Amino acid sequence: MDSNNTLVGFGAGKVILLGEHSVVYGYPALAGPLSRGVTARGEASNKCQLVIPEALTPEQRKVLKAAFGRAMAACDEPGVRVSFNTDLPLSMGLGSSGALSVACARVLLQAAGRKASAMDVANVAWEMEQEFHGTPSGVDHTTSALEQLILYRRKPGAESGRSKVVESPKPVRLVVVMAGARSPTKTTVGALRERQKRWSERYQRVFREIGLLASEGAEAVEEGDLEALGDVMNVNHGLLAALGLSSPGLDDMVHRLRNMGALGAKLTGAGGDGGAVIGLFHDTAPAVHELTRQGFRCFDSQLAGPREEGATRGAA
Ligand code: PMV
Repeated sequence: MDSNNTLVGFGAGKVILLGEHSVVYGYPALAGPLSRGVTARGEASNKCQLVIPEALTPEQRKVLKAAFGRAMAACDEPGVRVSFNTDLPLSMGLGSSGALSVACARVLLQAAGRKASAMDVANVAWEMEQEFHGTPSGVDHTTSALEQLILYRRKPGAESGRSKVVESPKPVRLVVVMAGARSPTKTTVGALRERQKRWSERYQRVFREIGLLASEGAEAVEEGDLEALGDVMNVNHGLLAALGLSSPGLDDMVHRLRNMGALGAKLTGAGGDGGAVIGLFHDTAPAVHELTRQGFRCFDSQLAGPREEGATRGAA
């Protein structure tokens, strides 16, 4: 709660380091939180409601209303008027809907007078995520709720996913660059589902391999072997491209980052025709400076490992 008696809840954005898409089919993914995200605010009201931003399309309003309806039912409809704002680039693969779900869940649970653990928050946020995405793996809102680098897995048919916190002895620092507008996650995930239905064995083989990469990447993080982590990221990008999830714009940005000295670079999130690309660097500042000079929207973020004195989590 802030000084004006307003309830405040933050939901962190996320990046998937390894394993997007295959995570939908039950394989592990490695994902961590950004310091950027969505902040929700709640004021006392005679009914439970969400302030929907004017700029949204009628379809987006409908989905947001339905999603909030599910979260509010899960919290017994406390009397609160929830509004939100964000400093996260939207629809870029940085988990904006998961972050919004977590931020709303935090405010609703506070308004309901419930003392909520990160898992309670994740459970309410999950209600919203299902409305946004159709068949989400759960990695986005879980990373947002736990705010740690995690190896996440939800086996097919399981009610919920399992997360293992991955600790790093070294700072894991990324540059996150926006490489162009993209279609909604639901569309990209749906199109891949059609391809994998048709050529199931081939696609499952690739998903399995990506799952192995995510586990190898988690080991590399724990060992502080950033060169190995970078290599896993590069191989993962190649396999995402093999699944039809990259584009000329995404590939161009991946190569640009590698040419700037990235230990590894790949698309992150649903990808498809655009979205965000991540590069792993020992020192992110020169790349952020150069990309900004070239006119690209980008920021850096530390996902795990020891932080310099005075630095905030995921300094972005
Ligand atoms: O692009 P985003 O932030 O919506 O990330 C989606 C990640 C996917 O693995 C593609 C889908 C999912 O539900 O895990």
